[in-house]
Amino acid sequence: MENSETQILKKSAAENAVEEIKDGMIVGLGTGSTAKFAIESLAKKIKEGKLKNIYGVPTSNKTKELAIQLGIPVISLNECYKKLSSENINDLKPIDITIDGADEVDSELNLIKGGGGALLREKVIAQNTKSFLVVVDESKLSDKLGEKFFVPVEVLQFALESEKSFLESLGAKVVLRKNNDEPFLTDEGNFILDVYFGKIENPAELSSILNERAGIVEHGIFLNKLVDKVYCSSHNGIKILSVS
Ligand code: A5P
Repeated sequence: MENSETQILKKSAAENAVEEIKDGMIVGLGTGSTAKFAIESLAKKIKEGKLKNIYGVPTSNKTKELAIQLGIPVISLNECYKKLSSENINDLKPIDITIDGADEVDSELNLIKGGGGALLREKVIAQNTKSFLVVVDESKLSDKLGEKFFVPVEVLQFALESEKSFLESLGAKVVLRKNNDEPFLTDEGNFILDVYFGKIENPAELSSILNERAGIVEHGIFLNKLVDKVYCSSHNGIKILSVS
């Protein structure tokens, strides 16, 4: 259980990022405890009439339930595309802003995500977003990925043993994620392998090695080309980090 100071820092990062949302935007809704603060803050602004004509695109079933419960109008990614084609706009990224958490952020703003198991839809939504905002407290920062967190890897049930063995051949320790003694199931019905590579010197190279495997549906390394800004909160306030 996290202490209340960490919760306050997460809330502060999330609320600061929500300030970037403007009337009429389509907003990607992240998954996890930090993203939850952003969703609650967005819902409050909608309720108070401070934000109008907002649509949320959830990154998980859990987030969808929360958004509906809080009164945020929800649409799917497919509906975003239908909306675009009906408005005849030639736009490859229909989501204006996505606010999501991360498990680790390195000095070049590459991320590890997927501690909550939603990495696949989170990456799809990030790739469809004009401005991807990551919200973290300072405990998530590290020099190199893998110093603080393992890499969640979503695999086909069909290929479980094959991908486990492949990941072990890369020198990693591999653990099948469980939920009450049963394998954890993602929203797409896949398994998650939590993979301990240790310090990752070259995230882009590892990402492309993992991308090559047919049985790996997706992995939790989000390269910095996906990231627009990181809102990082500490006891000294908020810092907004960006790649360039
Ligand atoms: C969900 O699958 C994850 O990618 C989360 O965004 C990540 O685990 C951060 O979670 P917290 O905000 O709960 O720390």
